[in-house]
Amino acid sequence: MATQNLANHTRSEGKARSFGENIESDLASRFLRVVEVAAIASARTMGQGARKLSDQVATEAMRQTMDSIPMRGTIVIGEGERDEAPMLYIGERVGAEFPDGREVPEVDIAVDPLEGTNLCATGAPGSITVLAASERGGLLNAPDCYMEKIVVGPSCKNAVELDAPVADNLKNIARRLERDVEDLVIIVLDRPRHEKLIADIRAAGARIRLIGDGDLSAGIAAAVIGTGVHAVMGSGGAPEGVITAAAIRCLNGYMLGRLVVKPDQEERLARMGIKDKNRIYEAQDLAPGKQLIFAATGVTDGALLKGVRFFGEGTRTSSVILTQQTGKVRFIESIHLEKGPDVKVRFA
Ligand code: FBP
Repeated sequence: MATQNLANHTRSEGKARSFGENIESDLASRFLRVVEVAAIASARTMGQGARKLSDQVATEAMRQTMDSIPMRGTIVIGEGERDEAPMLYIGERVGAEFPDGREVPEVDIAVDPLEGTNLCATGAPGSITVLAASERGGLLNAPDCYMEKIVVGPSCKNAVELDAPVADNLKNIARRLERDVEDLVIIVLDRPRHEKLIADIRAAGARIRLIGDGDLSAGIAAAVIGTGVHAVMGSGGAPEGVITAAAIRCLNGYMLGRLVVKPDQEERLARMGIKDKNRIYEAQDLAPGKQLIFAATGVTDGALLKGVRFFGEGTRTSSVILTQQTGKVRFIESIHLEKGPDVKVRFA
């Protein structure tokens, strides 16, 4: 592709344009490639017990592939602040310019190059590579703190409240899904801070799936019928919450979130322009973009996506791409063939 790395250009060179429908669908296929290559890289390290390495290879692959995309991308949620992360740090510019000066889109990007680093390092289910993108300003620049979350599917809009008793929320979810509370499956991160939440869910009679990591992919599963997951409850990362919100908006699901701010994080929050730390956010507050793109590829098998499979002739990946404005949900199975004269393609 005839593009030039953005890093070699000053901001004033070339032209940038705002998002449009064509750009949304053009970029979606390019972002698919970004999450696929990151998934393949990290899947190679699966089970090696090296979580940092798994994350590093995913980050490098994601960063490198993003720099081949004609866009002016800004990382708004990434691997950390500039001084703590070598790449994909908050504020980093990514993308390429067309050498002929043709316009490229301005894009904000939130990445989690490997969600569930421990899951990948131990070969456990549920790790994904994931990103969300929007026009400028379409994703909340969330601080790296926790967020209390409830994520449910489209039938449960306005049926839950963050401060309602757990039993009431479960009853309302069950009613909307036309089933008994006993038939619900609720995903909760297995953490000591969730002891009371877990006890309350058990007391109400619902079933629980405790997960070691990965409330982002769990949230997406909760918004899709047929995954066997009916809600995600509890606190997890706020950055993961914003990326989840982008997917939830594309899937017409429902989500509530409230930041959990420690006293030493308050100043940072104020610097980021967040005035009310107790605000309850809905998905459209966390990801207000009008043209959202969400892309994820499975690294290890999960409720929604299969993990990366390596075989003689190539590599197989399972991904999902969501585009809000065009209203498309695409599940994509890709076979990345090895180059060679005897390569064969198998159906499944
Ligand atoms: P990593 O991607 O860094 O491994 O974290 C995954 C995760 O489990 C998220 O899914 C979740 O939101 C967050 O970490 C929970 O944080 P903590 O492990 O501190 O409870």
